[in-house]
Amino acid sequence: MKKYSYFLILFFSILIVSCDNENDYTPIEDNNYPVAEFLPKLSELKMFKGDLANLEPADNVEIYSLNTPLFTDYAQKLRFISIPEGKSMTYTDGGLPIFPDNTIITKTFYYYADERDPSLGKTIIETRTLIKKSGVWNIGNYVWNEDNTEAFLDDESHALTINWIDSNGTDKTVDYVIPTYLNCVTCHQNNGARMPIGPKIRNLNGVHNGINQLQDFIDKGLITGAPAVSDIEKLPVWDDTSQYSLDERARAYLDVNCAHCHQPGGFWNLSFGDSFELRYETPFDDTNIYPRRNVIVSRMQSEIEGYAMPFIGTSLIHSEGVALIEEYVESLD
Ligand code: HEC
Ligand code: HEC
Repeated sequence: MKKYSYFLILFFSILIVSCDNENDYTPIEDNNYPVAEFLPKLSELKMFKGDLANLEPADNVEIYSLNTPLFTDYAQKLRFISIPEGKSMTYTDGGLPIFPDNTIITKTFYYYADERDPSLGKTIIETRTLIKKSGVWNIGNYVWNEDNTEAFLDDESHALTINWIDSNGTDKTVDYVIPTYLNCVTCHQNNGARMPIGPKIRNLNGVHNGINQLQDFIDKGLITGAPAVSDIEKLPVWDDTSQYSLDERARAYLDVNCAHCHQPGGFWNLSFGDSFELRYETPFDDTNIYPRRNVIVSRMQSEIEGYAMPFIGTSLIHSEGVALIEEYVESLD
């Protein structure tokens, strides 16, 4: 954990933490739906079917993917969403839909022993969880036991060393750090309100597992009020050079990896001013990327805690991401 970041995070998170209402849960009695409560064990939420380690979604749980995801030390990620019975997400624009109360979103982090052959096993680390209650998003983390038979609600940071073989057959290692609750809130807040980051309509609007995911959610009644999918914008896929320009890919990457802190109401802007922001939808001239173009690259390449970007959440430098942003920055001159 980066020591320097602790201070800032502690300082800026006190307000956010003090308005937590995690004790206001009303139990939900429906056996076919997951349980929208932070129970002590992950299995008790019923987001997973059968043995937890199979990572299979239960009934009424959807897997979703993002056109451009967050980089987290090359971890594999599996995202689930559960919308309560008879309810739906309401479309507003390309950003976050309005989620009904009792929505559960989980993101499970794991590494394959060998990315070239998933059957050789995996290490599951954590299942990060958001649950919406009475209009407020509550945040919790389930840390998996060593046998990967169960995961337990846990607000603390844990460090572990993971070794794996990547898709090129290269041996890799990471000193993986499970974030604290305060880390979660640092990224998952805007002006003090806790919230999801990834499932924006434009980031869901893409072909995943052979079908358009947004269309599929609309067809299942999980999203209502949306126009024709062909009229909805798409967040570019950061590494798809065949469909998207350098500029589009770089802005999508900066959006998902940086903009939660670098936007109005984000962690950086709350304390350092509003002159720099990295959301995809912000016109280039309003981002102030240009005057900071060189420092953006230098911070992404840095290993100095407090200077390195992203500020928290990673231990390894994302060399493919750095390469993209470097090329983008060079193209600006
Ligand atoms: C460095 C910033 C950062 C930190 C720290 C962080 N998250 Fe996230 N999280 C993100 C981003 C960005 C996404 C969306 C991109 C993705 O899913 O790849 C996300 C996605 C999620 C999701 C899926 C729903 C969503 O918001 O997109 C959950 C659940 C989640 N995080 C929970 C947590 C919890 C719990 C913690 C702390 C243990 C945590 N996060 C720490 C940035 C962060
Ligand atoms: C968890 C929040 C967070 C995330 C995520 C994050 N930053 Fe930052 N960023 C900060 C903070 C805090 C500072 C100020 C740190 C310091 O004192 O130098 C900062 C400073 C910067 C600065 C210097 C700005 C200036 O005017 O001096 C740049 C450039 C920057 N970040 C780029 C990025 C990029 C690029 C990403 C994504 C790859 C990113 N940041 C992700 C929190 C974050």
